[in-house]
This record gives sequence, C-alpha cells and structure tokens, in this order.
Amino acid sequence: MTEAPGVAANILVVDDDPELGEMVAAFVRRLGHDAMYTQQPGEALSLLTTQPFDLVITDLHMSLMDGITLCGRIAGAQPDVPVIVLTGHGSLETAVAAMRAGAYDYLTKPVNTEVLTMSIARALERGHLRREVLRLRDEVGRVKPSRALVGSSRAMRELHDLTSRVAATDATVLINGESGTGKELVARAIHAMSARSHGPFVAINCAAVPHHLLESELFGHVKGAFTDARSGRPGLFIEANGGTLLLDEIGEMPMEMQAKLLRALQERTVRPVGGDREVPFDARVIAATHQDLDGLVEARRFREDLFYRIAVVIVQVPTLRERSDDVLVLAQHFLTRFVDRFGKRVVGFHPAAMARMVGYGWPGNVRELENCVERAVALCRGDTVTVEDLPERIRTFQPERPMAAPEEATEMMTLSELERRYLQRVLSLVGGNKSRAARVLGLDRRTLYRMLDRERGVEPGGVEPGGERHEHNS
Ligand SMILES: Nc1ncnc2c1ncn2[C@@H]1O[C@H](COP(=O)(O)OP(=O)(O)OP(=O)(O)O)[C@@H](O)[C@H]1O
Ligand SMILES: [Mg+2]
Repeated sequence: MTEAPGVAANILVVDDDPELGEMVAAFVRRLGHDAMYTQQPGEALSLLTTQPFDLVITDLHMSLMDGITLCGRIAGAQPDVPVIVLTGHGSLETAVAAMRAGAYDYLTKPVNTEVLTMSIARALERGHLRREVLRLRDEVGRVKPSRALVGSSRAMRELHDLTSRVAATDATVLINGESGTGKELVARAIHAMSARSHGPFVAINCAAVPHHLLESELFGHVKGAFTDARSGRPGLFIEANGGTLLLDEIGEMPMEMQAKLLRALQERTVRPVGGDREVPFDARVIAATHQDLDGLVEARRFREDLFYRIAVVIVQVPTLRERSDDVLVLAQHFLTRFVDRFGKRVVGFHPAAMARMVGYGWPGNVRELENCVERAVALCRGDTVTVEDLPERIRTFQPERPMAAPEEATEMMTLSELERRYLQRVLSLVGGNKSRAARVLGLDRRTLYRMLDRERGVEPGGVEPGGERHEHNS
C-alpha cells in the first residue's frame, strides 16, 4: 500500500472490454504504479478482499455488473478505497448516480490523459489522507479505552473482563443498566477493543427518533421514497459498515419496527425505504436499554424472538451503589477533568466530603457523580472540595443502613483481620495516598505506617516511639 502520494500505488482496473482495460492498465503502469486488470467486476470484489488496493478504475457499462453497482459495493465494503468511473456515454444522470454510489471521480471517454493523471493523483492523495486519519483515530482509540472506563471495584473488573472477551467476537450484545451507569461508554469500549475499531462507531437513540422516521434512519431510503426525500440516503446500518452500530434505548422501538429489525439481523441485509433491493451490511450490532426487556417481553411489548436474537451476550452494567469502592476513584477522575476545564487549582476532596460521597446512594449513578463534581469544582474556593461545595441532597443524605462495611465483612473474622482489610480498602479508595488514608482513618501518619509495617511483617525498628526518622513517600 502506498505511504504517500507520489509513491507507487496498487491500482485495480475493471473493464469488460479487454482492449480498453489493458490500455488503461498500461497507462497506469507508465505513471509508475502497479496495475492489475480484470474483466469481471465480481473478481474485482474478491481481489479487493484479498489484496490491498489504493484505487479502483472501472468502466461504467459492463455486462455482468455495471460500474455504479460495483462502486456502491466497494464504498460499502472498503470505504477508504477511492473509485474512478470511466464511461463512453457520459450523461449528467449517470454522473450523479456514480457520485451518489460513492465514486471519487467520473470521467468520459476518450479520456484526456492529463485529466486522468490528475484524477489518479488526487484520488490517491485522498486515500492516503483517509488512511492517515484512520491510523490516528486508531492510535487515539488505543490509548483511550483503558482510561475511558474508570473503576477498579470487583464489579468493574468483572465488567472489564466480560467486555474484553465479547470485544474479540462479532456477537450481538445487549447492554443493560440503570440510567447514567455508563452503558454508552461500555458500548464504545467494546467497539474500541474490537477488530472493528478502525471502522465507525454509530449510535442512535431509538427513543429520540419519531417512530415514522426510525425505519429510514436505520435502513436508509431511495430518492423519492417520501415527499421530502429529494435524494437517497444510506441509513445507519450502512454508515456503520466495518464498524459498530449502537441501538440505544431498544426497549422503545415500536413493534412493527422490531419485526423489520429482526429480519435485518437474520438476513444481514437491509432494504432502504422505497427500494426494491436488499443491501448487505457489515456492522456489529450492540443494543442498550435501561428497561427490563424480559418484563417487556412478558408484557408483549417486545418481541421474544428479537430479544433472543440481540441478547446473545448480556452485559449488565453495575450501579454505582453496587460499587461504592469506585466512588472516590471516579470523583478524583472527574475532578482532574473539571480542574483542567475550569482552570482552577483544586487538588482533591476534604475527608468529610469524601465520606459524604461514599455514603450517598447515587440514584443517578456515574452521571450524577460527574455533575456533582463539576458543580463542586466550580463552587470551590480553596484547594480542596469541602462538604459545603456538595449539593444539598448529598450533604443531608441519611443512609437507610449504615455505610456498607467491606464486602468481606459478612464473614466471621478476627478484629485484626478486619482492621487489616479495612486499612487496605481505605488505601485503595484514596488511590494509595497514605497521608490521605491517615486523615480518613483519623490516625496520624506514623501510626498508619506502623500498622502497614506490621502487616508486611516488618519490624518497626527504624522508628522510636514518637520518633520521626522513618522515611516513607506517599
Ligand atoms: N466507568 C466510568 N468511567 C468514567 N466515566 C464514566 C463511567 N461510567 C459512566 N461515565 C460517565 O458518566 C456519564 C454517563 O454515562 P453514559 O452516557 O455512558 O450512561 P448511560 O448508561 O448510557 O446513561 P443513559 O441510560 O442515561 O443513557 C458519561 O459522561 C460517561 O462518560
Ligand atoms: Mg445512554
């Protein structure tokens, strides 16, 4: 594959007239590129799946498959390969049709060699830029996913584990979870970790699109399909080709649309509104909902067959209540983000504010926590967020039960074992910062160090009672 314009490219020529095809191929070779020539559009498509081409030059009128159909198939399967269409009988209509099918350029025969040379050079440059964009997007994407889903609680580790396993497959996934738990983020993480990460991530909120428009949004429409359809549109299934399509709030999908969706998922094709042809799509489908789909199936508001079709793997996103271990880690994560955004000098949370946040019930989950931290950073006057900077509902929250004890505390254990585990839990809550852990525990730093040393089986020999010589970095 070419790395830059001006370097030899790999070009595929398709023309059912061998004389003309060979001529174009020879011309391309004279420009310093590698050319491959085929008379059969079908063969061109299979060559494209096995070899990297930088450009396709195709004739328009061919007996087996016309150049516009070929162009559409290439645009669907390999959108980064530009196509130039050549034709003996140019008309405005076919030119428009070619462009709509995704052609990069459209030239009439006999082709002026200068025009063709220019067109090839520009098409290759565009292809090069597109690949560059994809490469950069990929690089950015690779850094992000690990950072995107913050949290190290057991529930989050299990979620990470499951999502990375499903990311390696093309299975349809149903993401279920309360509002604000991070369902969309999970869908993006699956996409970013999958082999489709180079392709697009397309999301649609089924609840936000008026019912009568949902079908054309998803499946596209042909020109003239309805009154304002002045031009055709491919629809999101096709736009997500090579990537992932998230059908968010799938529980809100009307019944008749559910039937069409089921068909599309089974056949792996969509039929644009007003069209008479099935168009194959190549997108991984992820569905998300905050609703109890099982319940909707029982109430006959969701098709059971569709439920089983999409719920091949179910990913349950835990609520923030189920992972209170993550509250402070997430809070610190958002604090850093909003400090940057607001240009403030806030460095952390006062222990009392931390305690309120950990003890709160977070009905709005991560989104609510994010909003709370944003507000707190905006209001904060000093360098630490205090209880006063928190919203009233959090300041005055009365837990129904006392603050949850460590997960393991339900077992019987000795007091020193409980102390050890609690110490570790607080340390992990404050990201390993020993000074802060000491403050949360109401201990002075030296006492905490002594307890940690004891736990590691180290003799606290370096420290005289009350002495200051022990060195620790926190
Ligand atoms: N584990 C996480 N780490 C970092 N940010 C998170 C995490 N989970 C959620 N968020 C953030 O919380 C907000 C809500 O997440 P998201 O939109 O993915 O939730 P959702 O479950 O799709 O919500 P809804 O049901 O309301 O659509 C987003 O700003 C997201 O970035
Ligand atoms: Mg969402």
